[in-house]
Amino acid sequence: MTESHRQAVQCSESRRDPAPAGRILGVETSCDETACAVVDAGRHVVANVVASQIDIHQRYGGVVPELASRAHIEAVNTVIAGALARAGLAPAEIAAVAVTHEPGLIGSLLVGLMAAKTLAWVWGKPLVGVNHIAAHAYAASLDAEPLDYPAIALVASGGHTALYRCAGPTEIALIGKTIDDAAGEAFDKIAQLLELGYPGGPAIDKAARDGDPHAVRFPRPLLKGQSLDFSFSGIKTAVLYHVRGVPGSEPQRTLADLSRRQICDIAASFQQAVVDTLRIKIRRAVEQTGARTIILGGGVAANSALRTAIDAFGHERNLAVRIPPMAYCTDNAAMIAGLAWHDLQAGRTDALSLAATATVRH
Ligand code: KG4
Ligand code: ZN
Repeated sequence: MTESHRQAVQCSESRRDPAPAGRILGVETSCDETACAVVDAGRHVVANVVASQIDIHQRYGGVVPELASRAHIEAVNTVIAGALARAGLAPAEIAAVAVTHEPGLIGSLLVGLMAAKTLAWVWGKPLVGVNHIAAHAYAASLDAEPLDYPAIALVASGGHTALYRCAGPTEIALIGKTIDDAAGEAFDKIAQLLELGYPGGPAIDKAARDGDPHAVRFPRPLLKGQSLDFSFSGIKTAVLYHVRGVPGSEPQRTLADLSRRQICDIAASFQQAVVDTLRIKIRRAVEQTGARTIILGGGVAANSALRTAIDAFGHERNLAVRIPPMAYCTDNAAMIAGLAWHDLQAGRTDALSLAATATVRH
């Protein structure tokens, strides 16, 4: 047998029989972060590299999909090489290649998926496709103790706001979702209205520290009955009318009519309305599912008022509250590589024909 034959046999064997444990390289490009990470045994983050595109999208006040795809193409090889270098590993020491293949911006997803497929093929490693939202619900396990299931997970980001019942890392079921805007989207739009900057979440979070959360009473929508769905467009409109005046019945105002103190009060009151809504839905979800653990994930989980409110609720009900550190709340590849380990252990891998899917129906 020649050396190249032997390598080919080893490659096909490793595809059939993935290493049950080990280091997985993950790639994440679903939105506006180009990310690659290496995670050992599903939890221990060996390297975590993220190239942010915030500078590119900032001037538009939101993510421009075409610019995002192009920036991913430019960054993806450097980010992957960076993660491998930081991990100090050769490709042979990687057990599998994991990648976000759904949901997300289709052009952005395709860049990471093609990169991951290429690596899996060239290195002769199994490919594992990962759902981005399931990965956010798993992120609290990274560099931490395993989660105590059953759990409920609130995943709130710029594109999603949803509640899941989690029986295990890969067994998650949707139990509530937004019927209009995502929570992060509402933060971004209100920050834009108040001219606080982009991304809006951190800007509102900061301004709210100098404001009174009870200064203005904004609505807390969809609280009737036992619904676990969310709606943020009503809060958004209420803030808009508060700032500019109700069209047709009030004189129209501009932001220049408000003092810095009033802007901070509006930011704090808006944040309080969102946090109260999320807390009440979480309480209902816990009561309806009998969960022992509350998991937060997604960029909005970085919000300081939300973290404080959910920590207090968990304490009151004697429930574990698991909120990842900032780096694992926002988009990252460590959560992708971590979750993929559970798939790999269960023998679930994907073919190189794996497709990218922009939206996932539940
Ligand atoms: O998960 P993520 O990084 O990307 C998406 O998949 O969307 O979430 C980004 C979102 C943005 O809307 C951003 O404004 C929001 O998370 N965000 C926050 C905070 N930090 C980021 N929202 C509220 N408070 C924060 N501190
Ligand atoms: Zn995300």
